[in-house]
Amino acid sequence: MTADSINSILLKRLCQLPYLKLILWRISGRERSGLRNLNKKQITTMTDIFEKIRKNRGPLGMHAKDAHGYFTFPKLEGEISNKMVFRGKERLVWSLNNYLGLANHPEVRKADAEAAGEYGFALPMGARMMSGNSNPHEQLEAELSSFMSKEDTILLNFGYQGMVSAIDALVDRHDVIVYDSEAHACIIDGLRLHMGKRFVYPHNDMTSLEKQLERATKLVEGTNGGIMVITEGVFGMSGDQGKLKEIVELKKKFSFRLFVDDAHGFGTMGKTGAGTAEHQGVQDGIDIYFGTFAKSMALIGAFISSDEQVVEYLRYNMRSQIFAKALPMPLVIGALKRLELLRTQPELKNKLWEITNALQSGLRNEGFELGNTDSPVTPVYLNGTIPEATNLILDLRENYDIFCSMVVYPVVPKGVIMLRLIPTAVHTIADVEYTIKAFKDVKNNLAAGKYNVDKIVTTIS
Ligand SMILES: Cc1ncc(COP(=O)(O)O)c(C=O)c1O
Repeated sequence: MTADSINSILLKRLCQLPYLKLILWRISGRERSGLRNLNKKQITTMTDIFEKIRKNRGPLGMHAKDAHGYFTFPKLEGEISNKMVFRGKERLVWSLNNYLGLANHPEVRKADAEAAGEYGFALPMGARMMSGNSNPHEQLEAELSSFMSKEDTILLNFGYQGMVSAIDALVDRHDVIVYDSEAHACIIDGLRLHMGKRFVYPHNDMTSLEKQLERATKLVEGTNGGIMVITEGVFGMSGDQGKLKEIVELKKKFSFRLFVDDAHGFGTMGKTGAGTAEHQGVQDGIDIYFGTFAKSMALIGAFISSDEQVVEYLRYNMRSQIFAKALPMPLVIGALKRLELLRTQPELKNKLWEITNALQSGLRNEGFELGNTDSPVTPVYLNGTIPEATNLILDLRENYDIFCSMVVYPVVPKGVIMLRLIPTAVHTIADVEYTIKAFKDVKNNLAAGKYNVDKIVTTIS
């Protein structure tokens, strides 16, 4: 048999896979239409990719020259705590997802250092499936399953790529995804890989969700597919919770599976810290639970907990985990220590909520608009231009020594300035009182037009 005939048999076999057929059909379709267009009008110009990106820097990148190093990519130095050093001076920091204050907990630091000393960062030396499995990895999965009251858990190297890849693995072109309009970028990127239909409902709008579920149900009756609803437990920008209880209730009327990204709820919400579904009393109604180690656990990595069969399916089908190196050992051992503290030291979560309640009620009492947050995420909404926002932040940082994140268009609508505060268990009531006073000042200055400039401020040397 010649090499050519072997190739043609292989190609025929591969083409029997429905996905591949579709891809080949799409590619050849694109080529066909490309050729048709070519025949109609001769190509007169071509774009060099580098030239294109030199001209169009993107909605955020267009500010890079003025903002880099101060408003974007700032460097916070020193011990991770409520006070850190920014540009050589100590500032009060409200910008770290260190909800429970575990980043600098002495037991955490000790466990991290010992694990790094014992194993280094090289181990394991491959993907879990091939050569990268270990007892600590399996122990962490078992402990997370028990904490989340789910049958099984899969560890993910990074939350973002894990979410993208899980969506990719779970649905095919016959299935419909119904999702919240404020879903995190990693959910949107997962949707980009989805070859079937996707229906969006306005943020937390249950009437619209029901309508989309009716549409989706009709559609999958024709395709013989299934429906997956994806939402967040706590929305990371606005701080309001996904309406998990209402969504679970809809299961009585519609047939679907519910996938919840609870990046900000894990460790902060619920009686035990098991997240937003625990808080809303519907843990059993969540079919697939995603949590990250990057927020409450102050680490890197993430996990998905679900039924045993679903997790086994993910282990053997999630491309981002099959084709990527496993979490290094110190991260796994560090996560085990953090999970132990999260479970056994409820005072950390209590302190987080004490600070959260003081901050949010204090700001609301002073007339600040915080939207619908009902989690520690604290957005403060003001009205102003992007240049005004930069001037206000400059004032807060340089004259009040307060460092918080500024969120502007395109993340929020034009004309809105969002100052995003993340309270933690290592903040103090004195920090809260000082911040509210400073916020009153800058709000008055903004209203009086004191920050009014044409361009974003560039006092950075
Ligand atoms: C809602 C949400 N999902 C997923 C992620 C990604 O998690 P990770 O930082 O572990 O990649 C984040 C992180 O910002 C998030 O806020």
